[in-house]
Amino acid sequence: MKRSRIIGTGSYVPARVLTNHDLAKLIDTSDAWITERTGIKERRIAGPDETTSELALRAARLALGAAHVKPRDIDLVLVATATPDMFFPATACLVQDRLGVRPGPAFDISAACSGFIYGLSVADQYIKTGAARTVLLVGAELFSRIVDWTDRSTCVLFGDGAGAVVLRADSTKHGLLSVHLHADGSQWELLNVPSVGSQPLTALDQVRAAKTAPRPQTIRMKGNETFRVAVRTLEQAAREALEANQLDASDIALLIPHQANMRIIQATAKRLGLPMSRVFVNLDRYGNTSAASIPIALDEAVREHRLSEGELVLFEAFGGGLTWGSAVVRW
Ligand code: ACO
Repeated sequence: MKRSRIIGTGSYVPARVLTNHDLAKLIDTSDAWITERTGIKERRIAGPDETTSELALRAARLALGAAHVKPRDIDLVLVATATPDMFFPATACLVQDRLGVRPGPAFDISAACSGFIYGLSVADQYIKTGAARTVLLVGAELFSRIVDWTDRSTCVLFGDGAGAVVLRADSTKHGLLSVHLHADGSQWELLNVPSVGSQPLTALDQVRAAKTAPRPQTIRMKGNETFRVAVRTLEQAAREALEANQLDASDIALLIPHQANMRIIQATAKRLGLPMSRVFVNLDRYGNTSAASIPIALDEAVREHRLSEGELVLFEAFGGGLTWGSAVVRW
């Protein structure tokens, strides 16, 4: 049976570091509060000329290099992002052009923080059906442009960055064993960026938006509720992945969760009975980079030699939509 195997990873984060101490000079917050409630110490912020496609391109080039794959060998370009450069064209088209990939399909995936896992599923369908042999999947975000920098309850959480993987059809036992995806649109209000899309603002909304923060094109989040749903849902997603593969948590060499909040990650690990030594965490340095967080973490795990051939890695994510999902890969 054909499997989708990750044959190369790459990541890129902007050079500018914004620490909690820097933030405390701008808004009413403190390093102690942010560290205790989230585990985040600093995040990266893109320069004024950097765009999501630029971050994606840099991560993609590194992934192609690691995979020893030429742009002309790519059959499909996918970019998971909630912060595309433009409404259209898709950021994937901009990446395809600048990489010099031939004109096969290229499109974006909008599933907020679950975007990378949604992307794995799409790539896997193309590969399993034979529609593509080699797929470039990038998670790239520039959340610093869509946070309200006057709202301390959200602006401390997010950062910019991109991570990429190259997947190729493989007939060995290595590769993607399963992907499970879910969405519950009825809970869209927990986490959203209203009115950057085609949804019209009512007159009342316009008045409210003009008078009160947050600005309509920035993130709104019901943090407490989101937190509770996230912990419950991530445990379910992980268990679904384990059961589908007849695995026990002890079989997992490394859990790479979406990096949203240290307390969410710890609570999920505890519920699964996984020691934190087998959970990859880098949100202290990057904050929540949404769809980029898992591929950045995976790339760092690879570079730190945290995964050996044949070991099992579990990905899980949760985000706006609501969307959530999990995937198991035999490395
Ligand atoms: N600094 C200092 N104080 C703050 C800050 C801050 N940055 N932010 C909020 N506070 C205050 C609040 O005003 C409140 O004060 P009050 O008690 O006087 O009213 C107090 O701290 C407690 O606020 P809570 O919101 O109850 O704090 P909580 O412990 O819930 O932490 C947080 C907030 C970190 C946002 C948490 O709820 C969380 O992580 N939620 C989940 C977010 C998430 O995971 N999103 C995932 C997906 S993201 C995506 O899909 C794009």
